[in-house]
Amino acid sequence: MAHFEGRFIDRIVVLTGAGISAESGVPTFRDADGLWEQHDPMQIATPEAFMRDPDLVYRFYNARRARLPGVEPNAAHHAVVRLQREFAGDVFLVTQNVDDLHERAGSQQVCHMHGRLQAALCTACARSTPMSGDYDGTTACPACGTSGSLRPDVVWFGEIPYYMDEIETRLADCDLFIAIGTSGLVYPAAGFVRRALQCGATTVELNRETSDVSGLFHHQRKGLATAVVTALVEELLAA
Ligand code: OAD
Repeated sequence: MAHFEGRFIDRIVVLTGAGISAESGVPTFRDADGLWEQHDPMQIATPEAFMRDPDLVYRFYNARRARLPGVEPNAAHHAVVRLQREFAGDVFLVTQNVDDLHERAGSQQVCHMHGRLQAALCTACARSTPMSGDYDGTTACPACGTSGSLRPDVVWFGEIPYYMDEIETRLADCDLFIAIGTSGLVYPAAGFVRRALQCGATTVELNRETSDVSGLFHHQRKGLATAVVTALVEELLAA
């Protein structure tokens, strides 16, 4: 239980986006040096793009996966772990990020609604297998042995994110909704703040800049994730 901005908080939902990993050196999507500034997402992150040019899509995700061992979780990921470990109530962490920095910081439970870079999904047996290295259209599925059936286990534009039922349950039941480093441009995640508000939660946005949905939040704390997430966690744990 904590006291925050005049109310008691028992259940928290934390939503993270690319901004929490930015200071670790993982590029965001829409900032000046972002991935979607260099690549057209419609040519890379849709089922149609994968059907049209699978090699391009494998290369894009193989390159992003290969960069993960070279980056480390930052103070914001560690602050989220601290909240999960030390807060007396419930903390549900849902991320749009496909990197593994929350896990490497020590988060035990991470809901990867957009999938994971370090996994492959078999279109033959429908199983997801951990994959730390490259794979492509010639790789056999480790689970069923079928060749040419693996795709990146990430959610593409036009696909339904994972775990939506559980996320809805958590949002409907939370007292505090915290969004960290996300532009509010991609749904359904961009709609979580509205859902949390409908259900009576207090809402806080932590972002370096104004997002597309900033005006909806009760509270906005602007700054780098490493600073503002750490400060909010301190405040919640002290209260
Ligand atoms: P975006 O790139 O759209 O937005 C990143 C957000 O992080 C922006 O609002 C920045 O202001 C903020 N930001 C950047 N650096 C920051 C820092 N150091 N501290 C705090 N905030 C910072 O990334 P997302 O909102 O995560 O989906 O993108 C949502 C989805 O769009 C992604 O999951 C991905 C993408 O297309 C799929 O690929 C399906």
